[in-house]
Amino acid sequence: MPYTLNVNGRSTVVDAPADMPLLWVLRDVLNLKGTKYGCGIGQCGACTVQIRGRAVRACQTTVAAAAGAPITTIEGLSADGTHPLQVAWQDIDVPQCGYCQAGQIMSAAALLATTPRPTNDDIDRAMNGNVCRCGTYTRIREAIHKAAALMATRSPQTARAARE
Ligand code: FES
Ligand code: FES
Repeated sequence: MPYTLNVNGRSTVVDAPADMPLLWVLRDVLNLKGTKYGCGIGQCGACTVQIRGRAVRACQTTVAAAAGAPITTIEGLSADGTHPLQVAWQDIDVPQCGYCQAGQIMSAAALLATTPRPTNDDIDRAMNGNVCRCGTYTRIREAIHKAAALMATRSPQTARAARE
């Protein structure tokens, strides 16, 4: 059945069974390979994308449920790789093998959208479902704090306050 998906600001009609996981559609139909398959049962977070700004597991979300809602994948986080999280991730050199990292960043982006200056506890709670076999958790936490600081310096209110 045809479903209209709004992925990274672009509307696309895909022909898929209603219960096909969004992860399959993203990777195999739309060729957006940044979102990874880890466990397929909602336990690892490698497949995390955002729907309406909330972090969701694409392996546990059907195409029918995702249709019509704004979906953001790692490819759509920024046009040119300059989202503060992407900058911080590079500065701190977070990834090891890299496999879990798109999911980590998408969860972190959803956190910062609602909690611009998260505490360590906020980060640990929000990132709890994102597993990293390489154990990069300490660098992930550091990078989220750095991204939060970068976002604060980029926000118009902060810039205005600094001028006044
Ligand atoms: S692949 Fe979706 S949570 Fe692991
Ligand atoms: S960087 Fe290897 S699994 Fe996270």
